[in-house]
Amino acid sequence: MTTVAPSPHARDLSDAPDWWRQAVVYQVYPRSFADTNGDGLGDIPGITSRVAYLAELGVDAVWLSPFYPSALADGGYDVADYRDVDPRLGTLADMDELIAQLHAHGIRVVVDIVPNHTSDKHAWFQEALAAGRGSAARERYIFREGTGPDGSEPPTDWVSVFGGSAWERVSDGQWYFHNFDVSQPDLNWANPEVRADFLTTLRFWSDRGVDGFRVDVAHMLTKDLSEPLPSRAELDAMPIDGNHPLIDRDDVQEVYAEWRAVFDEYDPPRTAVAEAWVHPSRVPLYASAASLGQSFNFDLLEADFDAGQFRRIVADNLALAAESGSSTTWVLSNHDVVRHATRYGLPDAERGADGRPTLKHGNEWLLSGGRTPALDAERGERRARAAALFLLGLPGSAYLYQGEELGLHEVADIPDAERQDPTFFRSPGVDLGRDGCRVPLPWTASDTAFGFGTGGAHLSQPEWFARYAVDAEDGVPGSTLELYRRALALRHELQTAEELAWTDGSSDDVVGFERPGGWVVVTNFGAEPVALPAGEVLVSSRLLEGDELPAETTVWLRRA
Ligand code: NOJ
Ligand code: CA
Repeated sequence: MTTVAPSPHARDLSDAPDWWRQAVVYQVYPRSFADTNGDGLGDIPGITSRVAYLAELGVDAVWLSPFYPSALADGGYDVADYRDVDPRLGTLADMDELIAQLHAHGIRVVVDIVPNHTSDKHAWFQEALAAGRGSAARERYIFREGTGPDGSEPPTDWVSVFGGSAWERVSDGQWYFHNFDVSQPDLNWANPEVRADFLTTLRFWSDRGVDGFRVDVAHMLTKDLSEPLPSRAELDAMPIDGNHPLIDRDDVQEVYAEWRAVFDEYDPPRTAVAEAWVHPSRVPLYASAASLGQSFNFDLLEADFDAGQFRRIVADNLALAAESGSSTTWVLSNHDVVRHATRYGLPDAERGADGRPTLKHGNEWLLSGGRTPALDAERGERRARAAALFLLGLPGSAYLYQGEELGLHEVADIPDAERQDPTFFRSPGVDLGRDGCRVPLPWTASDTAFGFGTGGAHLSQPEWFARYAVDAEDGVPGSTLELYRRALALRHELQTAEELAWTDGSSDDVVGFERPGGWVVVTNFGAEPVALPAGEVLVSSRLLEGDELPAETTVWLRRA
């Protein structure tokens, strides 16, 4: 048993089953956080070595992206064993130590659970391959015969989320279904053995002290694959109304009702947040207390830095949260999207086919880590700081992605030979993929790999990372790191009921709201300064001069 000295930053974890409702949750991408053994890959002891940093930052919880044994074909979202730690990242004992240290510092622990698919290295899939057609082992996955005279054509023309066919043929001629990479076979959630095994996994981590779960692609687990299977065109034309064969089916809620019963076996009950890309009207299903309890709202992550969009998104999501009784979640960045400092510095109109900001090959504005004429890096950071301070004032929980507290930009010019993300290989090479937001963090400006580890970094860091290193910002007035620290400390003091009242903006570019207790948050999204509202200034995303609120700036005030 580990004994841990109490931390000066520790908060009491003993009570408050509702801790998650307005928590600040910091996402750690373990391979890229801190490396203690010099193999270039971040590890669990690395996270433990930085717990004091997280405590000083003032976060309430840490969400760990997958650290399970994995071939790392999809950054760990290809899980080979749900109840172990990848030996390159550490051991179960290391996890116990990390959980103990985080708890001793008053920080809760959320782990990622990936139920839609396993890795093809998972013992179950290996068994399925060996056991052959018609076996019980194949029933844990989705195997079908091919089409065409000799079955050499896939069962359908469906495409995977990462590009290319959603079916892969195995040596005896059958095909298996994969929504994502070919190394990520989808599980068959109609199989009771699959369901039971995940309950075992939830208990395994809950018993070890984990406080909650982030549920990967929570809306895709259950499927209706009764024959005849529809074509891709037919599939695309079907409404996503609870009966779609693949997406957001009503019957997935039966799975989460079982999970809820497990969460409620614990005191305090374990929490969960759904990664569910569903129509807003369907979000309350996942967010309700009978289901996972909370569901990500990704609207800000897809929005421009624009007053009208921000105001509408806040209003809509607070109303949705009221419908389910949950609290909403605010997210500007995660491990799947272009970092928001960079998004906000790109020309406004640059969007992918799905409406999301994207980085593509052949666009000169993406070269040199965002330092080309078309990317206004400083403006991106200025807006990023304003957006973050706006978000941290909102009711609900805030999810931060490692490095955003440093104002870090996307690394857009990773050499093709270094790229790891399957979306890059399956697109093929058109979409640069997600490696650029997963480059290991800079801790120090002048050490090897910027203090990430002594043996380099698994994705190489550009020289300009020095400017964003923790030690370059630590204690520096006006740095992004100090802004986040101040905002998080203040948020703890000021946070009250999950309510806000809009205050009138002096122009369409200004969005303001007041929280109970006289806590006022005002953002000027526009390019011109406006009059600073009355009140005592608590923190601002940019230096204030005189009685003006500068362009692209947020201020927190206490109403006079
Ligand atoms: C969503 C995760 O956030 C992403 O990183 C992953 O590639 C897919 N789910 C598949 O697991
Ligand atoms: Ca390591």
